Amino acid sequence: MNNRSSRLVSRRRFLLASASIAVSSLPFVRPSRAATGNELRIVAAPAKALLIDRDRPRTAVWAYDGTIPGPTLRLKQGEAVRIVVENRLDEDTTVHWHGIRLPNAMDGVPGLTQAPIKPGETFTYEFTPPDAGTFWYHPHANSLEQLGRGLAGALIIEEREPIVVDREMLWVVTDWRLTSGGQIASGFGNRMEAAMSGRIGNTVTLNGVVPEDQPVRAGERIRLRLVNASLARIMALRFEGHRPVVIATDGQPCDPHEPVGGRLLLGPAMRTDVVLDMVGEPGRRYRIIDDFYEGLAYWLTHLAYTDDPPLRSDPPDAPLRLPANPLPEPDLSSAQRHELKLEGGMMSGMGMMGGGMMQGMGGMMGHGRAVWTINGNSMTGDGHAGMPPLVTLAQGQNHVITLRNDTAWWHPMHLHGFSYRVLARNGAPVPHNQWADTVLMAPRDSVDIAFVADNPGDWMLHCHVTDHQTAGLMTVLRVGGGRSKT
Ligand code: C2O
Ligand code: CU
Ligand code: CU
Repeated sequence: MNNRSSRLVSRRRFLLASASIAVSSLPFVRPSRAATGNELRIVAAPAKALLIDRDRPRTAVWAYDGTIPGPTLRLKQGEAVRIVVENRLDEDTTVHWHGIRLPNAMDGVPGLTQAPIKPGETFTYEFTPPDAGTFWYHPHANSLEQLGRGLAGALIIEEREPIVVDREMLWVVTDWRLTSGGQIASGFGNRMEAAMSGRIGNTVTLNGVVPEDQPVRAGERIRLRLVNASLARIMALRFEGHRPVVIATDGQPCDPHEPVGGRLLLGPAMRTDVVLDMVGEPGRRYRIIDDFYEGLAYWLTHLAYTDDPPLRSDPPDAPLRLPANPLPEPDLSSAQRHELKLEGGMMSGMGMMGGGMMQGMGGMMGHGRAVWTINGNSMTGDGHAGMPPLVTLAQGQNHVITLRNDTAWWHPMHLHGFSYRVLARNGAPVPHNQWADTVLMAPRDSVDIAFVADNPGDWMLHCHVTDHQTAGLMTVLRVGGGRSKT
């Protein structure tokens, strides 16, 4: 039995009653199509999507090419691409290619790296993805609402020589706050939520639908690419009866390893590639459980085994290690050191969740829009012209940044334009040679990251809980010539 809302329970009954409605009879719903080639076009526009029940009204969303999630863009490592983005929304937008190391002018931050794309206009992004891996794309203008209404898609950069698996699955997992009528709840930018865990919703979709089952065959080896495209929901996924092996974090290969406790921690914007050997029994179903929030565990979907006999008797021998990406390895002995301290939010002095919550609120609400700071500064919104850099990092040099979470909340901290090595957490070395562009910090965590500042420009660093970003947990790091200034 699961802990989902009665809405989802009634949906399952409904499906049992009438599984026969053809998807093709639903005019606005198309399966996400895979786009390939060196010249692509995507259109951001309002659309309707079937997120939950077939007997419920479709949800008004904002979408790329009319689909939730947007089309999966599959590009080739090291091959130049042009992506024309057309804005058919009623407001400005941009597209940010999250995790891709690209020229600053292609980074999609309005004001900072480009003029926003006005309604009716287009912008052509051109870059050559240097790294293979699992990435994603999303707007960087009015992000809270544009992402929260559905604008997001997966961006897969294919290896020249991928590892051998039987097949690949992609799960773009998205949290929505829906009304009882199945529409997206208003109230984006609620300041109280911004000072706490952000806008966490009530419905989680997998590739745009509330998913019952994922059919699999016994003995298969599957590469699963997981993308958390949520505004605020952190996930901890467990695979009943299975042992996922992590082979990449945020697109970047790591030493293949099983996650601690078998739980995959995935904050907003984070990606994990895992290899899953289907060691279950034909005909059985195994739950995939998200139990990150205490008392709010639910099952996301099931691995539903067909009755087919196992494809093979034992898992294959083939190696799991992905080919390395051409990332410059930071030299720690010569690295310049910096510290970024995150402060603010509710109960910042207390270091615990629980009873004191309501008392802290009054004072916090009185302040302006900013409820978070980085080294005492708050940048709010999504990016705008004239944002002064908090730190200038000498170009070509090695840098170690200590991120210190002096708040009572979790933060997935994202840096644009770079993948960084995650060196240490609370003084302990982080194993398995992990790189990231978004690192999840627990309350009071301190994390050391390192990278070579080889890509000049003004780069955003922000929390990817979108309410936190827009309420001050954001800054700009400048990579430029000359000496570092902190
Ligand atoms: Cu995916 Cu500035 O973010
Ligand atoms: Cu980014
Ligand atoms: Cu945060």
